[in-house]
Amino acid sequence: MDPFPASPLGSAGTEVHLNRGEVLAALSRVLDYRPSPEVPHHGRVAALASRTASRVPGADPRDTFYAGLIHDIGLLDEQPDYSHPANLVEQANRPLMRSHPLTGAQLVGTVPGLYAVAEIILNHHEWTNGHGYPRGKVGSEISPAAQVLRFADTCDFILREQGSPELLPFLDAVRNRTAGQVSPPVADAGTDVLGESGFYAQLLTDEDVESIVQSRIRRLAADDFATTEAEITGLLELFAHVTDAHPADKIGHSRRVANLTVIVAMALGMSPQDTVNVKWAALLHDLGTITVPKSLIDEPRQLTAEELTEVRRLTGCTHEFLAPMSGLEEVAAIAGSHSEAFDGSGYPQGLTGYEIPLGSRIIAVCDTYDALTSRRPYRAARDTSLAIDILVRGSGSIFDPDVVAVAVPVFLISQNSEEPRPTRV
Ligand SMILES: [Fe+2]
Ligand SMILES: [Fe+2]
Ligand SMILES: [Fe+2]
Repeated sequence: MDPFPASPLGSAGTEVHLNRGEVLAALSRVLDYRPSPEVPHHGRVAALASRTASRVPGADPRDTFYAGLIHDIGLLDEQPDYSHPANLVEQANRPLMRSHPLTGAQLVGTVPGLYAVAEIILNHHEWTNGHGYPRGKVGSEISPAAQVLRFADTCDFILREQGSPELLPFLDAVRNRTAGQVSPPVADAGTDVLGESGFYAQLLTDEDVESIVQSRIRRLAADDFATTEAEITGLLELFAHVTDAHPADKIGHSRRVANLTVIVAMALGMSPQDTVNVKWAALLHDLGTITVPKSLIDEPRQLTAEELTEVRRLTGCTHEFLAPMSGLEEVAAIAGSHSEAFDGSGYPQGLTGYEIPLGSRIIAVCDTYDALTSRRPYRAARDTSLAIDILVRGSGSIFDPDVVAVAVPVFLISQNSEEPRPTRV
């Protein structure tokens, strides 16, 4: 018998199976989040690319679908506008734009089971005429799936640039714009798909794009599950990466909190399976912050009471992003309660004491410690002793005193073995 079983168990003793299609579609909704709804870039590209891939020999429809859902994940540091400028000179002047396929591929390539997806992402801005980036690949050096993604990405750009043109002028624009970007068979397959009855119209509304994405999940990903701890952790770390990209001061925050929660949960005697759930919840705990306007996050001052209320309301939507992923219900409940306070003064539900899941109480302490010891736009990082002093003062009111008592020695020991913090001022 294997002494180190690879499959994680939920506390109810059931194996966690996470559907990769559901997870990557949820991640695409995070990448595409905008304050006012618009047709999602990643969703639309995935919808068109996966359908086109089914007509292109050598392009796996499922991998192409997955790559489409998250292809610009490497663009986070650049800007939230995923409509790429078509002008190559302009792109050449933006180093982060030129490197985003590489950055994205590096991120996705670390996730077990997504290596093929990473290869497609790496090459999704290469052009068959050699004028693409980042490596200037030519012709058949670029995989059919990467060419399909290039085609779909350009179609999305034309739609954003031109509004929603009639089908025939749109097809003309697509043929002109993709010539030299992709091989003729890929362009033919893509334009054939766009000409299928009713399909083009479905690409023009966010509801229809979402329904195509859901049908592709059922058709392409129904039997594709991440089941091992490494596979699931890798997928959830992608969410942590996106969450922590804004502001840059937060880079690494969710992973550091996750690392701390593992040790504190162990020290509290939690079972291995419950500890894994807390780690996963920690990776996801700040997901709701992506809905908070950057102007509030980057404010070089303490927020007013009204602004703080708004931030709390928005951060409470973590659960909405997690709900579409079946199998993560317990993890979502832990993540969604990490801002509750032991005395009932927290949010979103005002839970009290042991009503708050133990995992959430652990994350609350580790999250606060990491936030205090990290630089913020309006203050310097606190040193460990001051951060611990603040935690101890909040013990019994904000924090579970038993968790604080166990966590403090952990923090004292771990301060010398932390991941490096961002140095940006
Ligand atoms: Fe891109
Ligand atoms: Fe894109
Ligand atoms: Fe946090």
